Amino acid sequence: MSLYSKYIVSWIINKGCGSKPIQKQREKVLPFCHGEVLEIGAGSGLNFYFYQKEQVSTIYALEPDDEMLRQAKIKAATLDIEIKFIHSVAENIPLPSNSVDVVLLTYTLCSIPNPAMALKEMRRVLKVDGKLVFAEHGEAPDRKVNRWQNLLNSFWPYFNGGCNLNRNIPDLLAQNGFAINNLDTIYLPGTPKWMGYNFWGLAEPQ
Ligand SMILES: C[S@@+](CC[C@H](N)C(=O)[O-])C[C@H]1O[C@@H](n2cnc3c(N)ncnc32)[C@H](O)[C@@H]1O
Repeated sequence: MSLYSKYIVSWIINKGCGSKPIQKQREKVLPFCHGEVLEIGAGSGLNFYFYQKEQVSTIYALEPDDEMLRQAKIKAATLDIEIKFIHSVAENIPLPSNSVDVVLLTYTLCSIPNPAMALKEMRRVLKVDGKLVFAEHGEAPDRKVNRWQNLLNSFWPYFNGGCNLNRNIPDLLAQNGFAINNLDTIYLPGTPKWMGYNFWGLAEPQ
């Protein structure tokens, strides 16, 4: 991808992920982060403002995309929290097993090419009593909405950084080593239903 198209894709993603309803979702889940946190697909660092400084010791911000990483580093430099960047993919996390208290996953599982492998890696690096904190969008329960999601998903990922509209987030977690403790769902207000069905909550390694 040329530098120009990379910049456009990152602009589209930042615009969507920086919307008011999504910022509200961040406010709901970020308070559950504590200790050593691994943020998967940190993007341009939109979550960084929502960490509760006194609760977190180190944030490992894993991100494969150069342009996103560049933007995230600029944000991190303005904040008083320790953020260590990891230039890698979630399918191969360069951290020891059983080493982090929380894995944070916001609006990223939709874009990961191999979500099953990535979730197995997240489970590996989480401490036995660690938590997966998530806020994601995906497959809607209404058949009509879901039909649109499947249709649009035939081209949507090509223009949106690999984002899939129709992944079943709870099933993916349950099939790849996580037990969900808390799960809330909502159609985000002011967002088309086919891109606005959200899941958020907590899961633990099984
Ligand atoms: C829609 S953005 C969300 C960014 C951020 N999590 C947020 O909440 O704003 C999806 C991010 O997932 C990243 N991503 C794509 N493939 C990935 C992979 N295999 N492993 C980790 N992150 C990935 C993209 O580079 C992008 O930054």
